[in-house]
Amino acid sequence: MLHPFKGNMDVAALERFVEERGPATIPVVFVTITNNSGGGQPVSLANLRAVRAVCDRFGLPLFLDACRFAENAWFIKVREEGQAGRQVVDIVREIASLADGMTMSAKKDGLANIGGWLAMNDDGLAEQCRNVLILTEGFVTYGGLAGRDLEAVAQGLREVVDEDYLRYRIRSTAYLGEALAADGIPVVQPIGGHAVYLDARALLPHVPPLQYPGQALAVALFVEGGIRGSEIGTVMFGRHPDGTESPAAMDLVRLAIPRRTYTQSHVDYVIEVVRYVAARAGELRGYRIVTEPPALRHFTARFAPLA
Ligand SMILES: Cc1ncc(COP(=O)(O)O)c(C=O)c1O
Repeated sequence: MLHPFKGNMDVAALERFVEERGPATIPVVFVTITNNSGGGQPVSLANLRAVRAVCDRFGLPLFLDACRFAENAWFIKVREEGQAGRQVVDIVREIASLADGMTMSAKKDGLANIGGWLAMNDDGLAEQCRNVLILTEGFVTYGGLAGRDLEAVAQGLREVVDEDYLRYRIRSTAYLGEALAADGIPVVQPIGGHAVYLDARALLPHVPPLQYPGQALAVALFVEGGIRGSEIGTVMFGRHPDGTESPAAMDLVRLAIPRRTYTQSHVDYVIEVVRYVAARAGELRGYRIVTEPPALRHFTARFAPLA
């Protein structure tokens, strides 16, 4: 059976890490819900409670990257034992109660075009953050956002926990993933909340990881069909602080689906294009990096195709 909560933090590894490094060297523990780089997979309440217990044991604050909190709560409702009878909004409250703070990009489950927030229980820390906010973004009542965007976030937060909306949202993502999987195209299973992740390493076994199969597939989807996906693999994670490079754990292409944007026909078009490219996967070649910045190279590196 497939693991229903592949986004879970490895609690034993977290404990080992904190013990080895020493809690004094670790300012915060972050859990991203859902796990974006690992396939849009959810984190269970049981896992969040276990992480909370480790944080309590070592006196560490637990923060959430909560940008997909509602999708994560929906998965908890439909997959986690004992949660089916609860309202999503109650699950969201419990998730929040387990953390000391959160970062939030409201462009995701805020259903807004822009904006986000940083929230925390520690009043002293919050005051320091507010002072930086005033210096960098704007006064705390608007944080650099226009009033209309704040209104959009407030409305989005009401609508995002609507269970009909969530059922539709998660179902539409699964529709894309299931259609591709039925055609034998390798995708990360189970299908995640906001995106379908193509397994480029499996689809392009002739392109070694250091020739960036995820990038090759992402480029081909854009060239053939104007579909803009994103490599999540060796380009994103392969360069290390000491300058060396090695293959990432996976070479994926993320097809993230904006909320309330596409119809089923748009998604059918995506399916056709992915099928077309997958049928010609053997012809795709790898890439080399021409220039890259010292950090976060996946945002701005330049590539050239290999012959
Ligand atoms: C998990 C996660 N956290 C944070 C962000 C950053 O969001 P923003 O671009 O609004 O700062 C993203 C988005 O791309 C994301 O997927």
